[in-house]
Amino acid sequence: MKLAPSILSADFACLGDEVARVAEVADLLHVDVMDGHFVPNLTIGPPVVASLRPRTDLFLDCHLMVDNPGVLLDDFAKAGADRCIVHVELGDPRPLFDRLRALGVGVGLVCNPPTPVDAVLPYLDEIDLLLVMSVNPGWGGQAFIPEVLDKVRAARAEIDARGLAVEIEIDGGIDVATAPLAVDAGCDILVAGSAVFRAADPAAAARAIRAAAAG
Ligand code: DX5
Ligand code: ZN
Repeated sequence: MKLAPSILSADFACLGDEVARVAEVADLLHVDVMDGHFVPNLTIGPPVVASLRPRTDLFLDCHLMVDNPGVLLDDFAKAGADRCIVHVELGDPRPLFDRLRALGVGVGLVCNPPTPVDAVLPYLDEIDLLLVMSVNPGWGGQAFIPEVLDKVRAARAEIDARGLAVEIEIDGGIDVATAPLAVDAGCDILVAGSAVFRAADPAAAARAIRAAAAG
């Protein structure tokens, strides 16, 4: 199991220091990009990724909650993003996959809680990562929606049956209580925002989530 702290809940005024605090316990860093349209909230974009890039060796996983990801992919690649995760709700993601491959950036696909798992299954052969949202995207600190675990189980079964190397990530409401449920259902990567960065000691909080997930 891998842990991906989400910087959405970090203090943006000292982001480099916040990332340094969790560097030893994180496997990758989750970067929540919101445009105020696809979701009402407005966060960060390629310039912040470019600023983080020289400050950390962590894999930068960029979750694009934006209406028009296509216009941003070149900028994310230039900024040093290691992977971009695009929403299946926007329609045919294949042109985005093609562009990401051409740029040498990893390919992730994400589905919101109301979106059936059938919407992502046709793309499993073409992606590196499937992200299953366990909250409706927009804000950190929301309650975990346990019903999405059925989608994780279905995707896990399909990935294993096809012999694919696609990793499954889950995002939203992950803490010491929900992490074991996600891992049991078949998740490889857990995103945790508020449970890590809103804790007094983010590294200790990240270790506690890992320990809980390991059972
Ligand atoms: C939600 C974002 C999440 C968010 C998770 O829209 O996609 O990545 O940071 O935050 P927590 O872990 O607090 O639910
Ligand atoms: Zn996210």
